[in-house]
Amino acid sequence: MSGSKNIVYQVAPGGRLSGSARVPGDKSISHRSIMLGSLAEGTTEISGFLEGEDAIATLNAFRAMGVAIEGPDGGRVTIHGVGMHGLKAPAGPLDLGNSGTSMRLLSGLLCGQSFDVELVGDASLSKRPMKRVSVPLGEMGAVIETAEGGTPPLRIRGGQALKGFHYEMPVASAQVKSSLLLAGLYAEGRTCVTEPAPTRDHSERMLSGFGYGVERDGATACVEGGGRLAACAVDIPADISSAAFFLVGASIAEGSDLTLEHVGINPTRDGVINILRLMGADITVMNEREVGGEPVADLRVRSAKLKGIRIPEDQVPLAIDEFPALFVAAACAEGETVLTGAEELRVKESDRIQVMADGLKILGVDAEPTPDGMVIRGGAIGSGRVDSRGDHRIAMSFAMAALRAAGPVTIDDCANVNTSFPGFVELARACGLSIKQED
Ligand code: S3P
Repeated sequence: MSGSKNIVYQVAPGGRLSGSARVPGDKSISHRSIMLGSLAEGTTEISGFLEGEDAIATLNAFRAMGVAIEGPDGGRVTIHGVGMHGLKAPAGPLDLGNSGTSMRLLSGLLCGQSFDVELVGDASLSKRPMKRVSVPLGEMGAVIETAEGGTPPLRIRGGQALKGFHYEMPVASAQVKSSLLLAGLYAEGRTCVTEPAPTRDHSERMLSGFGYGVERDGATACVEGGGRLAACAVDIPADISSAAFFLVGASIAEGSDLTLEHVGINPTRDGVINILRLMGADITVMNEREVGGEPVADLRVRSAKLKGIRIPEDQVPLAIDEFPALFVAAACAEGETVLTGAEELRVKESDRIQVMADGLKILGVDAEPTPDGMVIRGGAIGSGRVDSRGDHRIAMSFAMAALRAAGPVTIDDCANVNTSFPGFVELARACGLSIKQED
């Protein structure tokens, strides 16, 4: 994985974002398209696939399990599905790099196979909590061994008879929900998952798209084991989580007027739009349409004077990946922004509360981390050198902060931007950010 190379971003201060841009394909949907396409009967044609390292890690895992996959080539992938029981034992451990989604979703899917498998990841993934999936999967009859402390590597024993059950999730996590539903496809009877707050529902939508019945009743989603998936075409929208950096950048940089094309605006993902609008952002949702079972739109964003807010806790799961960018918006807003109820940010690719607070302080921003969020008093952004700690979203967020900085911003450890946003530097530059990359 690219994480071993230190990529440094040098961003000159000022500028504005304008024109139109299409950010890469949705990461969550890209992962799921490979998983369901591989298990389907027939040939699945995918367009708009994210050619980033995380989604490629999922793709390579299925290749290693014997699935013939062509591409990716310009976002196109063709999968020759092997059916629910057609996967083969891989020759060695499956390396999922930096990708938490691959590891958590695959654990559910793989505990219903006939073979043993080991899942490994990079230094960041190897520190992330996996008991949130291994414990409930164990209740279904799966046998999964984690390292001490409940972290990867995961050793999954095949040939287990899984039983459906009803799980009340203690955390609002789409990865846990999806992992259990994928295990549920292989379980006897019905598997139901109830979430404490709405989380992204791409798995449910895509299972339906592949002809697999998912029953939804309020906060509960259920599947019946033993069904089949039928191949279909999957058109993946641009990732709202990647668009978020540009939504924030154009909001904070005076004179900006930028249109982001074909962005997925699934209501379980649109917290960043809602929160930015509450702060006074000028975002217009245009040409709303539905593509492959997912709502899509073009987003026009113009610069605006932002104000600090208390972020509604019900928006937290709907914007869970967008807080690094939203903290930068808060740093440019007038007054205080308070985030609570977001302790999950501490177990993402980095501890996003601590790492963002550290970087913001280096840039002269009044940012106080709390156990479950942050208090930021908006004001001037200075200049300096910050460390992204190998977290893609933190690197891109600080790049946007330079639009309002007094001097240059240097960002260390940016190689992992390639996990979710290949071509970020080129696209950001085309929109008006003065960013250079050094090895
Ligand atoms: C994801 C769910 C979220 C999110 C992650 C992708 C998914 O994680 O942070 O980037 O694709 O299901 P949690 O489910 O752990 O909140």
